[in-house]
Amino acid sequence: MKTQVCIIGGGPSGLMLSQLLHLKGIDTIVLERQSREYVLGRIRAGVLEHGFAELMREAQCGERMDREGEIHDGFYIAHDGKLDRVDLKKYSGGSSVVVYGQTELTRDLYEARDKMDGKVIHNVEDVTLHDLKSDAPWVTYRDGDEIVRIDCDFVIGADGFHGVSRKSIPKDVLTEHEKVYPFGWLGVLSRTKPVSPELIYARNDRGFALCSLRSQVLSRYYIQVPLTDSVEDWSDEAFWDELKQRLPDEVSAKLETGPSIEKSIAPLRSFVAEPMRYGNLFLAGDAAHIVPPTGARGLNSAASDIYYLYHGMVDHYLNGDDAGLEGYSAKALARVWKAQRFSWWMTTLLHTFPESITYDQRLQETDMEYLFSSEKALGSLAENYVGLPF
Ligand code: FAD
Ligand code: PHB
Repeated sequence: MKTQVCIIGGGPSGLMLSQLLHLKGIDTIVLERQSREYVLGRIRAGVLEHGFAELMREAQCGERMDREGEIHDGFYIAHDGKLDRVDLKKYSGGSSVVVYGQTELTRDLYEARDKMDGKVIHNVEDVTLHDLKSDAPWVTYRDGDEIVRIDCDFVIGADGFHGVSRKSIPKDVLTEHEKVYPFGWLGVLSRTKPVSPELIYARNDRGFALCSLRSQVLSRYYIQVPLTDSVEDWSDEAFWDELKQRLPDEVSAKLETGPSIEKSIAPLRSFVAEPMRYGNLFLAGDAAHIVPPTGARGLNSAASDIYYLYHGMVDHYLNGDDAGLEGYSAKALARVWKAQRFSWWMTTLLHTFPESITYDQRLQETDMEYLFSSEKALGSLAENYVGLPF
């Protein structure tokens, strides 16, 4: 097989790029290790920044998001028995975020690819990248007993943190920066009315909690748990009990509980691999960088990678201009590191750290006090949360 751009990974990053390039007449093949049902079964992001939503519209996939997604102009931080609101719209100069599940937007992207006869190949095994430094890179995968070869101009590594693309870059070329946090998030999805129309991030001595939602009948809640915990350790009842204890009384009194329809634990990690280009391989999204979910930046960092790559590819194929592709890694990383800083800051502000000394705790309290006493501090939070410009 032959294509112009071979994309490894059929998550949001890979599908979005494939769709955008197709609309400009650039041919792609997407290789996905899992089945479509499996990809759509993963419950992940819920909050999309304005820039991501714009990209969905540009990819002609924004119709359902605009109809069913909720615009949120603010969120709450619960701390020290108080519930303080962060007015995103006011402090960011008029911006907001969209609450729309990653599952739904991935479904929209798959449907758009189907409608345009986009080539997305599922259940591929043993994806291997070859001759990445040459002008004629190629990719192989196994389909049963058969090895299939795809020749292309460029390979995009959009295969998430555990994918093969980043690992195909020689160790002496790649620098990896990593910070692992000593806790994870236990998440529960339930068919219940959300406790609050806007998200609540809660700091509590027992640990962090988050009240989020997918719609007015579907709630998503998280609590910070030790890394040693497993899903089996948490019955629904134990989860709701613990969540209530971490929320202000006025909130927990209103909390509607019900059976979990999904329950999972995500470890928290910050990670950046640089550079994001090796020869004709370009990394994008979680394949190159991970953030703890506290600032809702993960998918949104992937969006800027895709935006830069999309424009770089269009300039290459349609205008014979390679400046965008040449500058991709540096430009993407500059925004990635700002998302890293923000996610680390929000995680540090809101979580309980098992090893923290009283000095750290006082700094955390001071950070919170400063935040709600300074319009400039709130402005910084707001502009980062709604997303820095691409
Ligand atoms: P992925 O979604 O990981 O997709 C990569 C794809 O590549 C997968 O489908 C995988 O099966 C496939 N693949 C892997 N290896 C191979 C291989 N060898 N060959 C072929 N295919 C392969 N972000 C936000 O912006 N806002 C939020 O509110 C938010 N909340 C989150 C909550 C949780 C609990 C978690 C865990 C994450 C959250 N995120 C959030 C982060 C967000 O989900 C990720 O950043 C996003 O999924 C990245 O998309 P991606 O396409 O780059 O990678
Ligand atoms: C979610 O709804 O899953 C969600 C929302 C906000 C975050 C992280 C996750 O910061």
